[in-house]
Amino acid sequence: MLYFTQPSTRTFLSFSAACQILGLATANVRDTATSSEFKGETQEDSVRTFSSYFDIIIMRTKMGGLAERMAWVLSNSERPVPIISGGSGNDQHPTQALLDIYTLQRSFEEQGGIDGKTIVFVGDLKRGRTVRSLASLLVNYDGVKQCFVAPEKLQIRQDIIGTLDAAGAEYELSDDLNSMIPSADAIYMTRVQDEWDAEKGESDQIDISKYFFGSEQLKLLKKDAVIMHPLPRRGEISTDIDHDPRAVYWRQMRNGMWTRAALIASIFGKDKEIHDYSQ
Ligand code: NCD
Repeated sequence: MLYFTQPSTRTFLSFSAACQILGLATANVRDTATSSEFKGETQEDSVRTFSSYFDIIIMRTKMGGLAERMAWVLSNSERPVPIISGGSGNDQHPTQALLDIYTLQRSFEEQGGIDGKTIVFVGDLKRGRTVRSLASLLVNYDGVKQCFVAPEKLQIRQDIIGTLDAAGAEYELSDDLNSMIPSADAIYMTRVQDEWDAEKGESDQIDISKYFFGSEQLKLLKKDAVIMHPLPRRGEISTDIDHDPRAVYWRQMRNGMWTRAALIASIFGKDKEIHDYSQ
């Protein structure tokens, strides 16, 4: 069951394609106007309903933490089907972090893997859930340095800094992208998440012109570094650099489909079978 009541292109379609690859039939709700939520049913009851008909629920909602809470609720029900979060409010996006880790791992395959690398996050780090999830996962690698480059109002939140501190991870906060590029092994660009503005137009007051990657920035980048973006982009990466081999965001997106197929296969305990078959 694909329950995506927040806008999504890549996450929804890559999960849908992943299910097709694995031979799983799917159904979806993408708009609560077409479900009983429109009649006032709670999201909790909707999810419980899905659990009666389907064997796995993949969900994205505006409410942070709902997937986690529902996984707990279902674990105490008569049909405790697994739940995968496809993005939880402006808090977490765990499967994006998995595909990002996979992309980093493949990119640095011949450079000793992710350990010891410098990852530079750029843009709306306060509300960008992909950054929050990836930063939390990267603490599992040795000697990784994380740099957070954003205007003060969009800088990474204290809870993530707390996670990094607790893990003893190295990090740096900055508002100057160009000075951070030469030391980067990966640049992770993000868009402004203005759908979370408390007041309409609030983000327009923030000068984001410096948080842009184009041909000038490319000149400062190491030869074997990579440029990533969870997408969608809204002008923070110039299309002029799309052809550069260091721009891996389209490959990163395709990796999402395979990572999600692998995740679902492993949830159903079929990963070893698929692996052995492919050998
Ligand atoms: C991201 C998201 O939804 O958080 N998109 C995605 O899943 N690839 C990033 C974004 O919307 O900016």
